Amino acid sequence: MVEIVKATEPVPETKYLPLPNPPYHVGIIMDGNGRWAKSRGKARIEGHKAGTENLRRILEHSVEFGVKMLTIYAFSTENWKRPPLEVMGLMNILENVIDRELMELHKNGVQLRHLGKLEKLRPAIREKVQRAIELTKDNDRLILNVAFNYGGRDEIVQAVQNLIRDNVKPEDVTEDLLSKYMYTGASPDPDLIIRTSGEFRTSNFLIWQAAYAEYYITPVYWPDFDKDEYYKALHTFSQRERRYGDAK
Ligand code: FPP
Repeated sequence: MVEIVKATEPVPETKYLPLPNPPYHVGIIMDGNGRWAKSRGKARIEGHKAGTENLRRILEHSVEFGVKMLTIYAFSTENWKRPPLEVMGLMNILENVIDRELMELHKNGVQLRHLGKLEKLRPAIREKVQRAIELTKDNDRLILNVAFNYGGRDEIVQAVQNLIRDNVKPEDVTEDLLSKYMYTGASPDPDLIIRTSGEFRTSNFLIWQAAYAEYYITPVYWPDFDKDEYYKALHTFSQRERRYGDAK
């Protein structure tokens, strides 16, 4: 079910009551950074920087609201088509986040994982990502999957290639097995996918894993997606009835 919620709706006075049924795994398509910047007469990269600041806040709120796994769509396989300066800016953001935030994330019990292809990234960034994954691998307060140079179709293609490389027999290919070949491995599928800035598209994000995810779309641009907006999304989710194709 897709639900669009007006940004202006007030959050009730009883706000931030513990959620009876928080989603375990939330995916976020952090859209609208460019429009946020444009509406302020700023360069697009300023929108991505503001979006990064917002991500830091959303990580804290995730822990507070009981979310255990967060997957963020930071750079898609299609984002290479953007102007080189913007692509470089996004690469620099990833590098800076690791340089500046890694120890703080580690101290706060965040486990970092990467979804996507590292090969195309600068060797220095690749090494930093691998170091961050290794350093934080035993943390369990929040698992943060960073989808960077990630595409859902690309992920399915590489999963099939690896199945073939492993000589798996056609009759042994099951949904469970194919899931294990995805970047998300044995992780539970996302329960909720949030998309900011009002677009009704999956944009190639977790297209295998989100088969039964609930979608929540808000018109708010990502840098403005604050604690109230996040709570509203999680609260809406906790009131939904999930039937997984079953009858009522
Ligand atoms: C979509 O907005 C956003 C992106 C393509 C990049 C999102 C990245 C961040 C928020 C930085 C966080 C990154 C890391 C590595 C932690 P858009 O540019 O498509 O916005 P528009 O649709 O308004 O143009």
